[in-house]
Amino acid sequence: MRLDRFIASLPDRSHRQARLLVASGRVEVNGQMVRDGTCDIRVFDHVALDGQTLQAGKPARFFMLHKPAGCVSATSDPQHPTVLDLLDEPDKDELHIAGRLDFNTTGLLIITNDGLWSRRLTQPESLLGKTYHVETEGPIDPACVERFAEGLYFRFENLTTRPAQLELLGPRQARLTLHEGRYHQVKRMFGHFNNKVTRLHRERMGPLILDDDLQPGRYRSLTSAETAMI
Ligand code: URA
Repeated sequence: MRLDRFIASLPDRSHRQARLLVASGRVEVNGQMVRDGTCDIRVFDHVALDGQTLQAGKPARFFMLHKPAGCVSATSDPQHPTVLDLLDEPDKDELHIAGRLDFNTTGLLIITNDGLWSRRLTQPESLLGKTYHVETEGPIDPACVERFAEGLYFRFENLTTRPAQLELLGPRQARLTLHEGRYHQVKRMFGHFNNKVTRLHRERMGPLILDDDLQPGRYRSLTSAETAMI
């Protein structure tokens, strides 16, 4: 919400008064004087007028979870355990998943209450790669390297996938970096070559790398240095 509208929405404040208060330098957002009433404020911001708190600012929360196989990337599910069941945190209904993983996919999952931040992490325009370790049933055709880099046509969505980087690690193992997150994308890309993905593990999202010592089902908060990278 715009800062001047936020102030005008408080009891006994008019729009005109709100604009004047901001313009006269009496309003601080996160400890900084702000004179531009059009600036956006969020639920995470601390807003004060003459040193008196108007909005305390909710803490933004960010977690890295090692998703195990056999749980759903959803906030609720009638049948299966969800990734949120693994978190021992208050107000879990405020959290969402930044880039889901399939039921049996393991690895890095980011959970947060900050929608703008999670959009920056997941939207293709940010150009942040998501890297997967892939194991397949059949040998990986070396032609996949070039075809994945060119992009594959997905008829259902009527689009061509963005260039993806495939590094062959063995006859049935590879590391794949995508720059978008289409439904079952990795499985569909290998399916295009009649090859079935038997194990899929996300190692990395942009600069965020799953900790080696974070066991499946465990999680930790991201550091402020990590959240600032997105
Ligand atoms: N691609 C898939 O097919 N599954 C995932 O869980 C993630 C990417």
